Amino acid sequence: MEGYKLFLAFLASALLLGFLSVVFALLWVLHYREGLGWNGGSAEFNWHPVLMITGFVFIQGIAIIVYRLPWTWKCSKFLMKLIHAGLHTIALTLAIISLVAVFDFHNAQNIPNMYSLHSWIGLTAVILYALQLVLGFVVFLLPFTPTSLRTALMPIHTYSGLLIFGTVIATALMGITEKLIFSLNIIPYRDSPKEAIFVNVLGVLIVAYGAVIMWMATRPHWKRPLEHVFQTHQRIGEGFSEEDCHNPDLEISSDGAARKRNPKSDETGQRSTM
Ligand code: HEM
Ligand code: HEM
Repeated sequence: MEGYKLFLAFLASALLLGFLSVVFALLWVLHYREGLGWNGGSAEFNWHPVLMITGFVFIQGIAIIVYRLPWTWKCSKFLMKLIHAGLHTIALTLAIISLVAVFDFHNAQNIPNMYSLHSWIGLTAVILYALQLVLGFVVFLLPFTPTSLRTALMPIHTYSGLLIFGTVIATALMGITEKLIFSLNIIPYRDSPKEAIFVNVLGVLIVAYGAVIMWMATRPHWKRPLEHVFQTHQRIGEGFSEEDCHNPDLEISSDGAARKRNPKSDETGQRSTM
């Protein structure tokens, strides 16, 4: 893989930034706020930032770059699709639980729903993400979808996936700022209390995580290679071994066969559609 060490440095940074974001979110609600609970009060609201940052930011980011991990290139594409789709499903589930928490909190406290820009953009992102997931399953996982349709939809899938991810990062920043403005009373936000500085750092971590993930997901030379290119590299000894995963030739899905039937789509740079 070209720039393997740089890739590892980016991956380590992404994991560190993502992990720190989750830890900061937890420390915020446990140390500075009312903790976690499910009682219609603030402790229930607190699940909202924790689950959004864990699921919709951290896990979604990992799901996006999972195809690019070079040690998974010896695994079948079908297995990688299951992992990609599985991680996105976990992210969506956590986002939905997090929405239930905030709607339940608002209803219990007689606070109106869906009045803020944060809530409009946030709910739109969750709905589009659910649509992307369903379309992804139908188009790329079900064996009967024609290869031509997969080829046509792949660039849209990648673009809309990255757009939703970027929107989620922006939504998280809006939510964090709103919450600080609402809840810092004794020392107001403008006087920079410790909590505000801590949570501003959380915002910076989230932006940095998003930036690293987007960079990794948009480098053409870090893309998962074609199965046949990968096998040629293996044969001429370019440093890959096949220990943990089964042979990509033995794919359980129709991927391999479909790609062999339609090598043209691979050559035109659309090889990820399979
Ligand atoms: C409310 C989505 C992250 C703070 C809401 C609502 C939605 C939403 C749809 C409306 C709930 C209602 O009207 O009952 C999202 C999404 C996020 C996200 C998709 C993805 C990252 C965050 C984060 C915070 C936060 C990290 C930080 C504390 C708030 C606050 C409200 C709220 C304070 C209540 C006020 C309002 O409706 O704007 N969020 N949220 N959100 N969220 Fe988020
Ligand atoms: C690739 C996002 C669900 C199949 C991608 C990429 C993104 C993305 C950003 C580009 C990654 C890269 O270039 O390395 C999403 C989002 C989803 C989702 C946000 C859910 C909300 C699914 C599902 C499937 C799927 C359910 C079905 C298996 C694929 C395939 C690729 C891909 C086959 C091409 C990977 C490659 O060959 O490089 N997805 N995806 N996606 N996704 Fe998804």
